[in-house]
Amino acid sequence: MVLPGLLEIAVLLSLVISGCLGRDVLRKSSRDTAPSGFTFTGPAALDTPLTLKIALTQGNPSGLEDALYDVSTPSSSNYGRHLTKAEAAAYVSPTSETMSAITSWIRLNGLNATTMTPAGDWISIQTTAAQANTLFGANYNVYVHESTGKQVLRTLEYSIPEELTSHVTVVHPTIMFPKFSALSPVFSTQPKQRTQPRADAVVDPVGASCNSTVTPACLRSLYGIPITPATESHNKLGVTGYFYNWADRADLQNFLIEYRPDMSSSTTYSLETLDGGSDPQDIDEASSEADLDIEYTVGIATDVPVIFISVGESNNDGDLDGSLDTIIYLLNQDSPPQVITTSYGDWETDVDEGMAANLCNAYAQLGARGVSLMFASGDGGVSGIQPISCTTFVPEFPSGCPYITSVGGTIGTNPESGVSFSAGGFSNYWARPFYQSTVVPEYLDYLGSTYSGLYNASGRGFPDVAAQARNFEIVTGGITELASGTSCASPTFASIISLLNDELIAAGKPPLGFLNPWLYSTAAFALTDITSGNNPGCNTTGFSATAGWDPVTGLGTPVFSKLKTAAGL
Ligand SMILES: *[C@@H]1O[C@H](CO)[C@@H](O)[C@H](O)[C@H]1NC(C)=O
Ligand SMILES: *[C@@H]1O[C@H](CO)[C@@H](O)[C@H](O)[C@H]1NC(C)=O
Ligand SMILES: *[C@@H]1O[C@H](CO)[C@@H](O)[C@H](O)[C@H]1NC(C)=O
Ligand SMILES: *[C@@H]1O[C@H](CO)[C@@H](O)[C@H](O)[C@H]1NC(C)=O
Repeated sequence: MVLPGLLEIAVLLSLVISGCLGRDVLRKSSRDTAPSGFTFTGPAALDTPLTLKIALTQGNPSGLEDALYDVSTPSSSNYGRHLTKAEAAAYVSPTSETMSAITSWIRLNGLNATTMTPAGDWISIQTTAAQANTLFGANYNVYVHESTGKQVLRTLEYSIPEELTSHVTVVHPTIMFPKFSALSPVFSTQPKQRTQPRADAVVDPVGASCNSTVTPACLRSLYGIPITPATESHNKLGVTGYFYNWADRADLQNFLIEYRPDMSSSTTYSLETLDGGSDPQDIDEASSEADLDIEYTVGIATDVPVIFISVGESNNDGDLDGSLDTIIYLLNQDSPPQVITTSYGDWETDVDEGMAANLCNAYAQLGARGVSLMFASGDGGVSGIQPISCTTFVPEFPSGCPYITSVGGTIGTNPESGVSFSAGGFSNYWARPFYQSTVVPEYLDYLGSTYSGLYNASGRGFPDVAAQARNFEIVTGGITELASGTSCASPTFASIISLLNDELIAAGKPPLGFLNPWLYSTAAFALTDITSGNNPGCNTTGFSATAGWDPVTGLGTPVFSKLKTAAGL
């Protein structure tokens, strides 16, 4: 589980300086130094080309939230009446006042702006370092990332011009430095040599539990997942890939031969790329993260068309740019996949709040259009995406965003238990959403004063749900390995939602779309409550799973037949 891009922001100061006569304010953002790992090499040559992405203030984000909840809440008369691309975009389109301010500024400065999103809330301008310095009171320098040798242009401070202060929320790249993925995608893998097909792969006797290792067969028996092939070719399941994590078609074929001998072993994924993303098939390039994500979607969501969305780094510095470019790519599609699973993320503290809010609102647009977004909750327990040393709990991004479904992890069977690395907690950026208004206070009552001050009791709690997350048998680089991490859980849960969507679409009904209001109400009975396990981190034993929602396993793990009932099937 890692981040597509999240920008490291260490010390981010936002100063507000009153302008003359109090009419305008100059909004200045700065950081003291480059983060460790970057070396300053000198000012950028003045003619260095620089593409700046500018987020304009969105017109009516709370209207978007209302519209999202209206079409996603089963008790609403508009449940399932998803918005079109244009309807969703209209809520976040900048106001005419913002558009005229930005248009005059562009004209005054002789710039060419390109609109990046259907809402027009992101534009890009092609400049040079010299011009960007002038436009934004910046000082672009060249920094070298020591361990990769990559060069980036960044400034330690910039100001939004006075006439734009209330119209621009983020300019990028400026003071946020990329991370270049020092983190390993899957929590852990270990070799597991096995060459013979499993005798129980399809027969799936009662003994094939997920107790020691996890296979498609045991997930089928544990969660009641059908093997009946899906029929709807328009129902799509998207799997994102970042940081040179590429899936391998030969590994997938060997996986299907071994674990799904009832399926055609030539079943494969289709490819979409952006930012120069690719799909190299040299076996040495196979990534356990991407192979896991592909094998446990193609191999669980039988015959649902799976799309691998491979995000390169040609138009971005890796990191958060990858998330931003992915969401812009999806927002621009007329028919994005109805379900998308992502096994990458970041620490919430490391994502600029303005950028985080913008990405979260983009997820809301997709949700309002009927897309279910699943993200792995992270592998660091209460320390977030990965284990780190910490003195207060660190929420994960984007799990703190209330418009996505965050998937935590379990182990064992009979009963399942929360797995120790399952990230969970409470956001510092987003308040508790309406759909958590009963269950989260119940958990907080149970918690009492334990950990008081280490987490934000008013924040959005995560994860929402959970699934098995340890010792998944995968084929990668030609060998069988065991993979662990919430990266196992998100594709599993996403596959189940895709199979439900297949049946809904076949019945002429809308897909499930944004899941949480449904999961926390009508579908709550369709999840097995997990009541044991805890997620240590930050020198504590972490939160404990208990009856009801908890910040280790959320509402629990799926029961397919009951989810069908909850979906009206
Ligand atoms: C803007 O685009 C036009 C047409 O492509 C071009 O002639 C002009 O030089 C561009 N201006 C700038 C400032 O890049
Ligand atoms: C699962 O494994 C544990 C330890 O390996 C064992 O104690 C337990 O009985 C097993 N449970 C089942 C249902 O097989
Ligand atoms: C706690 O979360 C709320 C949003 O729910 C936020 O406004 C507040 O700033 C957060 N507190 C801290 C200390 O981050
Ligand atoms: C961790 O907690 C123990 C016991 O509360 C304490 O003695 C120790 O100093 C703590 N370690 C750190 C790094 O905070």
